Amino acid sequence: MRILALVGSPRKAGNTDILVDQIRKGCEVKGHTSEKVCLYDYEIAPCYDCRKCKQEGYTCGVCDGMLEIYPKIEEADLIIFGTPLYWYGPTGKMKLLLDRLRPFIASRKLEGKKAVLVTPSEEGSEACGCLVEMFRKSFDYLGMEFRGAILAKAYEKGEIKENQKELRKAYEFGISL
Ligand SMILES: Cc1cc2nc3c(=O)[nH]c(=O)nc-3n(C[C@H](O)[C@H](O)[C@H](O)COP(=O)(O)O)c2cc1C
Repeated sequence: MRILALVGSPRKAGNTDILVDQIRKGCEVKGHTSEKVCLYDYEIAPCYDCRKCKQEGYTCGVCDGMLEIYPKIEEADLIIFGTPLYWYGPTGKMKLLLDRLRPFIASRKLEGKKAVLVTPSEEGSEACGCLVEMFRKSFDYLGMEFRGAILAKAYEKGEIKENQKELRKAYEFGISL
């Protein structure tokens, strides 16, 4: 399987990044290949609802960093969506990316691909209900198969490294994929 990890935290080596890497390590042990994309390294404009992606070709009319990310998404068999919890939702950058997945509604090119969610937060898994629901419904709409989520409690940058149980869980989740 080809795995694409989309990291939507502004903090490199932060909790999302670390958990995503643990899952990738587990996947790689099983012989899968993986690539990580840090969304904050890319310019991602909002979806302007121009509806070009609904016309023949089903491509986005906006020329920005998504031109590099779209082919990676299309080539992946499994996509890890990593975002910290910001105000009970994803980060703004991750939301920009989600909005820009609109061409895949018409093209159906994400159909059958697997999706995984990774979210650290200060409050922990109980605060992530709205976020999980939003991703779950969006995956459904795109025809993707939701394979589960790692929802961990962590606040300071890199704090999750002290939580061996969560690190192990993420690694084993990667193996199970
Ligand atoms: C703007 C902002 C909003 C946040 N909102 C929440 C929140 O609603 N609930 C929560 O538990 N943590 C919240 N947090 C804390 C982060 O989710 C937490 O620090 C997380 O571990 C950051 O992950 P990272 O290291 O990958 O960036 C917020 C942090 C920021 C900067």
